[in-house]
Amino acid sequence: MAQAARHSSFLHKLSRHDVALDLGTANTLIYTADEGIVLDQPSVVCFERGGALGKAGETTVAAVGRDAKALVGRAPQNLETVKPLLHGVIADFSAAEHMMRRFVAMAQPRRLFGRRPAFTVCVPGAATRVERRAIREAAFSAGAASVNLIGESLAAALGAGLPVGSSTGSMVVDIGGGTTEVGVIALGAVACSGSIRVGGDQFDRAIIDYVRGLYGVIIGDQTAEHLKKTIGSALRGEPIERLRATGRSLDDGLPRTVEVTSEDIADALAMPLRQVIGVVRQVFETAPPELVTDIADTGIVLTGGGALLGRLDQCLQAELGVRVRIADEPLSCAVRGAGAAAAGAVEAGQPDFHGHD
Ligand SMILES: Nc1ncnc2c1ncn2[C@@H]1O[C@H](COP(=O)(O)OP(=O)(O)OP(=O)(O)O)[C@@H](O)[C@H]1O
Ligand SMILES: [Mg+2]
Repeated sequence: MAQAARHSSFLHKLSRHDVALDLGTANTLIYTADEGIVLDQPSVVCFERGGALGKAGETTVAAVGRDAKALVGRAPQNLETVKPLLHGVIADFSAAEHMMRRFVAMAQPRRLFGRRPAFTVCVPGAATRVERRAIREAAFSAGAASVNLIGESLAAALGAGLPVGSSTGSMVVDIGGGTTEVGVIALGAVACSGSIRVGGDQFDRAIIDYVRGLYGVIIGDQTAEHLKKTIGSALRGEPIERLRATGRSLDDGLPRTVEVTSEDIADALAMPLRQVIGVVRQVFETAPPELVTDIADTGIVLTGGGALLGRLDQCLQAELGVRVRIADEPLSCAVRGAGAAAAGAVEAGQPDFHGHD
């Protein structure tokens, strides 16, 4: 009976007008209970100085999301592409505000009918008060009536379908564009956690440095990301995949095409992957022994885009001696989990799901 009352109070909290938002370093996603994922775009905004509509010296938004990402590294001089987030937190407030406002307008959740929604926004567990306030303010400026923040680990665990409310601990490792967050979740909250400012962006950079060192060719960010997604592997060995990549030769400054292998990528990523493994080890070292026992039993779940790196699960499993599985649809776990939290999957007021800075 008590449980039924509790359940109905959760249902009462569930509003059709709630919007969950994951403002990530690489991608921004918006989710509503009715329509699911209504926006999934790269976190990039492109400004035009003194554009057709703007007065001389004035800056206008020329493109956001995929359209803006296509311009990264290619934009003409009057255009400037900006990634407003760095390591999961806002680095350029004005750009983040413009981008978020555009995204919310593009998503235009159908059932809002012009009403201001309640936002539940994912934030890195390690975000400072100032960084949390910036995210909150950007959400208000994008039209939120109220803003709840949820730690990314808890959101990712919920979205991955882990039994977060259980007393048995689960571990989630979220590898995003700019951060890796490790969380041990039990009883609806984060029991212990760790994070490192290493994610897919640092993987791309490591590939650029490696190709430059090995072949004397400078490739761009997008080429590096393409290599990582297409033939990337966390481990050397068969099957070896190959892909041609074109960049600028260090010798003569002219275009040069080289063949990169999955083993090259494994070598390039060895260092950043060691850092990722290091933070998971640290969390094991600081977690209470009972929770460590639980995780040895239940394994580790990988979320975030980095989870899709080839053979990463095998690499982590070999290094840590614990079973590792990749969540379904790892890129959208955090936003779906934030949506579930907004719908009452964890009780508001938990330390990691609160409305205060
Ligand atoms: N198939 C793939 N293999 C390897 N990496 C991938 C793959 N698909 C996406 N990624 C990487 O995942 C990263 C984006 O992941 P995600 O969208 O979870 O990050 P984010 O939430 O925006 O970042 P953060 O949580 O750090 O703020 C990018 O670096 C992208 O290159
Ligand atoms: Mg993320």
